[in-house]
Amino acid sequence: MRKTTLVTGGAGYIGSHTTLTLIDAGHPVVLLDNLCNSCRESITRLEHLTHRHVDFIEGDVRDSALLEDIFDHYDIDAVVHFSSLKSVAESLQKPLEYYANNVVGTLNLCQAMARAHVFKLVFSSSATVYGDPVHTPIAEDLGTGKPVNPYGRSKLMIEELLEDLAQSDPRWSIALLRYFNPIGAHESGLIGEDPHGRPNNLLPCLTQVAIGRLPELIVYGNDYPTVDGTCVRDYIHVVDVAEGHLKALQILQHSPGIHIWNLGTGTGYSVLQIIHSFEDVTGINIPYHFAPRRAGDIAQCWADPSKAGRDLGWCARRNLEQMIMDTWRWQSRNPYGYHSRLELPATVAMK
Ligand code: NAD
Ligand code: UD1
Repeated sequence: MRKTTLVTGGAGYIGSHTTLTLIDAGHPVVLLDNLCNSCRESITRLEHLTHRHVDFIEGDVRDSALLEDIFDHYDIDAVVHFSSLKSVAESLQKPLEYYANNVVGTLNLCQAMARAHVFKLVFSSSATVYGDPVHTPIAEDLGTGKPVNPYGRSKLMIEELLEDLAQSDPRWSIALLRYFNPIGAHESGLIGEDPHGRPNNLLPCLTQVAIGRLPELIVYGNDYPTVDGTCVRDYIHVVDVAEGHLKALQILQHSPGIHIWNLGTGTGYSVLQIIHSFEDVTGINIPYHFAPRRAGDIAQCWADPSKAGRDLGWCARRNLEQMIMDTWRWQSRNPYGYHSRLELPATVAMK
């Protein structure tokens, strides 16, 4: 049996892009996803892109019996753990669902890993664990802050749980990857971000305005102490994020303990700068209006990504123009995301 990487949440946005990067680098993978925020079509598209059958199991990371079967059936040596609920607004309405899914799901996964003697784990954390940072850029040694919503708190709780685990047993090698704002899509335009229901994040909202699914963009707040009054974020191409996971997996092979890496570009853009760049790159006018600040938003945040550069030999390589071009290629080819009718060109036989 070949050593295999288990990817939880592998049908989702970042999980599908990372799966593609892993397969391209020669890593056998098995994906586990309950499809609560994704669909099988993303797996079909991955198979098309890789010319391979992709092992996919529809199921829940909280299902201990299922995890035991997976660890029995495959020779798994590492887990990349994406599965999570991720809407800040929803987490305020349904905190128990968020803690149950995110925290209990991770606890369950770690217990199953320990039973199966699998001790390498890459975890999807978020810049949200820094709370409202006292200064930017944010380096890992700034320490965590106070996340202001249940989603953010679930990420911080998991980080602490994993730190305790690594302290308790030297066999664990764990990477906490703190993503800033992943956007963009694979350059093929075949996989991308396809949130169920009304999107919350800036780029899906913006592209749904551009495609005509939303009438106009709401810009939350124009009175922040920033370059133009709108919030500033560190947007990073999802394929750069995916490549960070590959590098982290490689380092974990020979680095026990817990490791924290920011995945960001080190550059911040305001909401208005993003809108204007989108208009420049695509030639499409984006109608928008200003609304009051969104609860829980911070004025600005961008990464100091130099630790990932030093330790992993990783840096973000794709610029804002490419992020926007790729986002738009995905959205315009798939106006209804994975529910769009897209004729896939004939592919060669699968391996
Ligand atoms: P996503 O919703 O597209 O992917 C998450 C996947 O997990 C989905 O396919 C969903 O169906 C699956 N899932 C959820 N609960 C599950 C469960 N109990 N069992 C099995 N599968 C389950 O989200 P994404 O944007 O790809 O985010 C991936 C990870 O990165 C998440 O942990 C998220 O919190 C984290 N993150 C995302 C961002 C971002 O801006 N997208 C930023 C920081 C951190
Ligand atoms: C949000 C979450 C963060 C989570 C990340 C990924 C909050 C407070 N933070 O990050 O915890 O890890 O998503 O799920 O929700 N904006 C608009 N109009 C829109 C949408 C967004 O003006 O229609 C603005 C926001 O006010 C913000 C910026 O765009 O200033 C980026 O927003 P978003 O894409 O939601 O990311 P974050 O808020 O940074």
